[in-house]
Amino acid sequence: MPERRLFVCTNQKSGVGEDLAKALKKELKNQGVKSLVVDGEKVHTRIQTCNCLDLCKQCKKGSGAALVVYPEGIFYGNARPKDAERLVQALVTGRPVADLLLDVE
Ligand code: FES
Repeated sequence: MPERRLFVCTNQKSGVGEDLAKALKKELKNQGVKSLVVDGEKVHTRIQTCNCLDLCKQCKKGSGAALVVYPEGIFYGNARPKDAERLVQALVTGRPVADLLLDVE
């Protein structure tokens, strides 16, 4: 089964990345969308923590954390645990959370 992974930076002193990862795991479960059918294929989603995504301004300036959705390559910044519901919904709808999107070109 193909996998989608969300890598959440946990390199902040505040620990917000850890909290965000926990909130995302909880939301996936609450919304019952750990596995989704995407383009006719069942896709399993995993939340993983990682040390640094090299988007540090997004972790050090605001109160949130940076994360990336793989394999789509969608980058978010300044995401907080309260954003978990919207971030998980975006996986379902395929429409990214516009106000958290990062342009990392
Ligand atoms: S500290 Fe989060 S991306 Fe570097």
